[in-house]
Formats: sequence, C-alpha cells, structure tokens
Amino acid sequence: MKNKRRDFLKLTGLAGIGVAGFGALKGYVNEPDYIYAKGVEKQWQIAEKSHIQRFNMSGYAAPPIDKVRIGIIGMGQRGPAHMITMSHIEGVEIKALCDLRLEKVNAAKKLLAGTRHDPVIYTGNDEEWKKLCERDDIDLVIVTTPWYMHAPMAVYAMNHGKHVASEVSAASTIEECWQLVETAEHTRQHCMMLENYAYGSFQLLTLNMARQGFFGEIVHGDCAYNTSKMSNNFSKNMYWNMWWLRQYGSRRGNIYPAHGVGTVCQLMNVNRGDKLNFLVCVDSDDYMMGETANKLASIDDFFKPFAEMNYRGNMSTTTIRTTKGKTIMLQHDGTSPRGPHTTIHAITGTKALAQEFPLPARISIGLDDWLKPEEYQKLVAKYTPEISNKVGDLARQIGAGHGGTDLFEDWHLVDCLRNGLPLDQDVYDAAAWSSIIPLSEWSVRNNSNSIAFPDFTKGAWETNQLNMDINLTKGGGNTKVIV
Ligand SMILES: NC(=O)c1ccc[n+]([C@@H]2O[C@H](COP(=O)([O-])OP(=O)(O)OC[C@H]3O[C@@H](n4cnc5c(N)ncnc54)[C@H](O)[C@@H]3O)[C@@H](O)[C@H]2O)c1
Repeated sequence: MKNKRRDFLKLTGLAGIGVAGFGALKGYVNEPDYIYAKGVEKQWQIAEKSHIQRFNMSGYAAPPIDKVRIGIIGMGQRGPAHMITMSHIEGVEIKALCDLRLEKVNAAKKLLAGTRHDPVIYTGNDEEWKKLCERDDIDLVIVTTPWYMHAPMAVYAMNHGKHVASEVSAASTIEECWQLVETAEHTRQHCMMLENYAYGSFQLLTLNMARQGFFGEIVHGDCAYNTSKMSNNFSKNMYWNMWWLRQYGSRRGNIYPAHGVGTVCQLMNVNRGDKLNFLVCVDSDDYMMGETANKLASIDDFFKPFAEMNYRGNMSTTTIRTTKGKTIMLQHDGTSPRGPHTTIHAITGTKALAQEFPLPARISIGLDDWLKPEEYQKLVAKYTPEISNKVGDLARQIGAGHGGTDLFEDWHLVDCLRNGLPLDQDVYDAAAWSSIIPLSEWSVRNNSNSIAFPDFTKGAWETNQLNMDINLTKGGGNTKVIV
C-alpha cells in the first residue's frame, strides 16, 4: 500500500511535497520521463482511487449568504478582472486581496479607490494566501494564481470553511482532482471552476436548444482552445515567472482543455446521465517554441534556460468517448500564427448541427446548407435563455471581459450563493474537465494509448440531475448589477 502511494506521488509529480506543502511547485511541475515508462495499465491501477462518495455535491445548495464576502488570491491579470467585475455586483464585499508581489496587489487595490470596497492586502511571501483563507469574515475565495497552484489553495480554503471559485484549470494531477472532490464532500463547501466560456451567447443558446431537443441526440462535439500565444509566452513581462512558458516546456498533451471541453460536456449532460469514459491524445512535434527560445537565447542570456527545455508539441488533439457512446474532439494549440482564436464549438446531433467557429456562428438542419440569417435569427429569438436576457445588456454596459461572459459567471455565482441555489459547475465538473491535463499527458507519453477517466462521481452520474439553471426557473435572478 505504501509503495503504491509512493508510485502514485511520483506519477503525479507530487513526490517529495506535502499536499499543501506548496513551495516546491514554484515555477513548474516537471515530470521526468521515467515516470511514464511504466505501462498504461499499471499507471491506471495506481491512479484509480477507492473513494467512497461521502456526500453528493451535485445539485448541492449551501445555506444562503446575503452578503458574499470575497478574498482573491493572485492579482496578476485574471485576479483584478474578477475583482472589478465583482465590484459591480450587489451584495458583494471585497474583503482581501493577495499576491506574492506587492506592486500587483497595490495596483489592484488602487482600482477600487472611491468604491465601497476597502480590502486588506496580503503579500510578500508565497504562503501569505493561507492567512487570507484563515480569516473568519470571508465566504468565497477566488483563486487566480497559475493553474498548477489552484488545487492546494482550493483545498486549504475549503478546509477553512470557504466556498471556492477557481480559475481554469482547477487541478493539474489526478491526485489533486481527488483532493478537490474529497475536500468538497467532506466540508460541503462549493468548489466551482470558473469556465467563463460556458456563458458565451452561442454556448448558452446551443445549451438551451439541446435541452429542448433541437439537436435530437447529440452524437459528437468538436472543441478547442486554439490561439496565438507565442508573443505572450515569450514576453518577459506578461506572466509571473514565465510560468506559461515553463508549462509548455515541461509537459505533454493538452495543458489547456478549458474553454472548449466544458461547454461540450454541459451540452452532453456529462456527470448527469453520462460520463467521460476514455481518451486518446496525439501530439505533433514542436516546430516553433524551441526554435524561438534558441533564437532569443543567442541574443539574451535570460532565455538560455528556456532554450534547454523540451517543448510540448504545437498541436495536441484529444479524442474522448463517453460511457453512452458520444465522442468529443478537443484540441489545444498555443503557437500557430492564427488570427482570432477558435473554440470551434461544433455540435453534431441526429437532427441538427451547430458551429460557432469559423465565425459567423451557424446552424444547419440538413439540406446541404446552413440556415439563412433570418431563419437563424428566429432561432436566436426563440431559444435565447433567460440568463442572457437578464445580464447580456448589463455586461455590455460595464464592458465585462471575454465578450461579457465574465459578468455572467460572476453574477450567477453570487446570485446562487445569495439565494442558496446550486452553482452552475460543481466539483465533479472541475475534476473531470481538469483531469484531461494529466490523462492526455499519460496518453501521449504512452504512444497515444487510450487512458480511462476516473469516475469522480462514483456512480452518481447515472442519477444526478441537470444543473446550470440558465432559464432561472429555480429562483434567484434578483441580484442587481451596479453599472
Ligand atoms: N478564464 C479565462 O478566460 C482566463 C483568462 C486568463 C487566465 N486564466 C487563468 O487565470 C490564472 C491566472 O492567469 P494570469 O494570466 O492572471 O497569470 P499572471 O501570471 O498574470 O498572474 C498570476 C499571479 O499569481 C501570483 N502568484 C504566484 N504565486 C503566488 C503565491 N504563492 N501567492 C500569491 N500570489 C501568487 C503572481 O505574482 C501573479 O501576479 C491561470 O490559471 C489562467 O489559466 C483564465
């Protein structure tokens, strides 16, 4: 048993550090090749966990909280974006901000000058976030540090009686996925991953159409986060400690399943009637990052360590099969010289097909053609869900990020907490969607063999009810947005 545990820790890159002992994660998680030399089957036996569901967090409604007191960890780019969005929402009090870097936390606090928020700041060392989690006047901790830090912070916050909203992805290893599930069930604190793309207007429209049977049986979904991040990743000033570049230079497989797979899972009722069964991941070679790192290193010593890294393939393609026999194609490409990014978001059903990218978004019911714009608009009028009617204009008025989706997700999160309603994404979604990171890596490192998903719901997926109440039928919707 002891050996199994040791193998597991090695396998998941957690060897040598305590679960919350977090300093060793600084920089990047580098998983040596030897870990992957073992057979896939052996790896799977190690990763499967004899977890017994203590309490089903699917559909869980915590007691209502009238005033939602918030602490945010990580004030780089995403943290201040949530802070500003949250400051527009009724019933929110921003109580505390934390960042390793004093200048970041000070700059963020300045943005709140003249508002009703006066947060306490925590800064200066990489354990200060714990003090924020330990406060007894905070209800919700928002985690916006680099994603490989999210799970230890979320676990610690839940163990200190806080609900957690974690930026994408919520975990970077299978062990961390289980820790999130076990801690949420044990503490009965929400752990929501902030998949803001789930609130895109076409995503919400197609979800509503799917629920009303427009697509018939959904057979397949295509999704991606394909974007041009070369200049960001090689910028010295964009991300703290070049953390994204270090991830690209130390892992394999899909390191950013977010923004594509979550919305497709929601359309397919994954974790509520179906579940992710297994995946296969194939990576191309790297033709761009190593070369760029070498070029930069020849003129700037700063890049020398990055020239030595072994970069993940430029294009990663994962195929997933669900237990009920649906398929998903998921890609991640952060390098190609593309124009606008694409999440593809193409849904193939037995009666109809929808596709967002390449724009414009389109729908087909067969007949070898897309619906004409006026027919498409009729569907938009019929199927736009209530949540879009409620906050769509307000999101435009406050200039909310990511096409307004940032307001949708933060507003509905607060509204559900204030009204004691289940959240739009639960801890099982966070675990299943995040688990693609390590599982796709195992697949690539094992000649793209298929890897099974753990069942984080331990069978409850068969009877779990739909969540994400996009038509606000279960109440709520009464939290104001301050423009
Ligand atoms: N949902 C979206 O649309 C979206 C968009 C961008 C980023 N993200 C996610 O948000 C997260 C943050 O991304 P970012 O672009 O803001 O990165 P960033 O590098 O700009 O910010 C991360 C911040 O974390 C701080 N930090 C590092 N270690 C810390 C510690 N121990 N304690 C406190 N602070 C610490 C850094 O100083 C930095 O300011 C990532 O997980 C990313 O995947 C999501």
